[in-house]
Amino acid sequence: MTLRHFLADDDLSPAEQEAVLDRALALKADPFSDRCLAGPQVVAVLFDKPTLRTLVSFATGIAHLGGQPLVVDGNLAQVGVRESIADVTRVLTRQAAAIVWRTFGQDRIVEMARYATVPVVNALTDDYHPCQVLADLLTIREHKGTLAGRTLAYLGDGANNMAHSYLLGGALAGMHVRVGTPAGYQPRSDILARAAAIAAGTGGSVEVTDDPVAAVTGADAVATDTWVSMGQEAESGARRGGGSPFAPYAVTPDLMASAPSAVFLHCLPAYRGSEVDAAVIDGPQSVVWDEAENRLHAQKAVLSFLLDRSGTRP
Ligand code: NVA
Repeated sequence: MTLRHFLADDDLSPAEQEAVLDRALALKADPFSDRCLAGPQVVAVLFDKPTLRTLVSFATGIAHLGGQPLVVDGNLAQVGVRESIADVTRVLTRQAAAIVWRTFGQDRIVEMARYATVPVVNALTDDYHPCQVLADLLTIREHKGTLAGRTLAYLGDGANNMAHSYLLGGALAGMHVRVGTPAGYQPRSDILARAAAIAAGTGGSVEVTDDPVAAVTGADAVATDTWVSMGQEAESGARRGGGSPFAPYAVTPDLMASAPSAVFLHCLPAYRGSEVDAAVIDGPQSVVWDEAENRLHAQKAVLSFLLDRSGTRP
């Protein structure tokens, strides 16, 4: 058995992603059917950035699985400042059954995984938000029945963690992923290339355009995200203020009229009047509360899957 982590979306193969989504649906139907953390075993959940959904859904999910969440505030631990990532990991890995971390650079969580002897899960980095995209895929599957061949359009900051994870996660699921974003905010080219290579094997596709209408036309799901990600607060004037380069990509009722059968997704927190109009996020196409709940089911499935595949299920 090899130790398995979930640091980026494509740490799962297409078949594994499907198996995790199947497991998530089974757990949603029967929430206490998997007691892989019985003991209770502890799962360390560390936050270097703000949180609501991630904290709630991991704490709830770990409890459902029979375990105990150990929430570590990054301000107290100061990982990489007070002591090295390696030393923090060496302490956590001897006591926790898994480690979940929300942090800044992807290099930080990759470094943690190097020293961990238990699964490490990415709860958002600057580059990826893979748990969120699993929840989004689960939500689309619930509302549309299938993923492969469906079109997922994302509008907004094409260079942020959600854009990157939609590209990779959507490609793994065999979806057609369209990113509508202005020049200067395009997805990272290596991630786009990885997503294209994955899509070539799954029957999906990836496309980046600066035309918001072209991006959403006929889509099965339309998603957006804040224009100011955590860590970018100093740029918020330029990103969200008057003359924002993202303004044409705001998800309005007019834009949604080009995707009449689409569900609307947002990872939240949402800024009504910026990236999305209230009439959309609070309107009939919105499934954002299902999406937020599905974090719970998707993450329980990921934890259970990683413990099984790593041979570290207590
Ligand atoms: N792109 C956003 C996602 C929040 C869940 C951020 O990183 O702040």
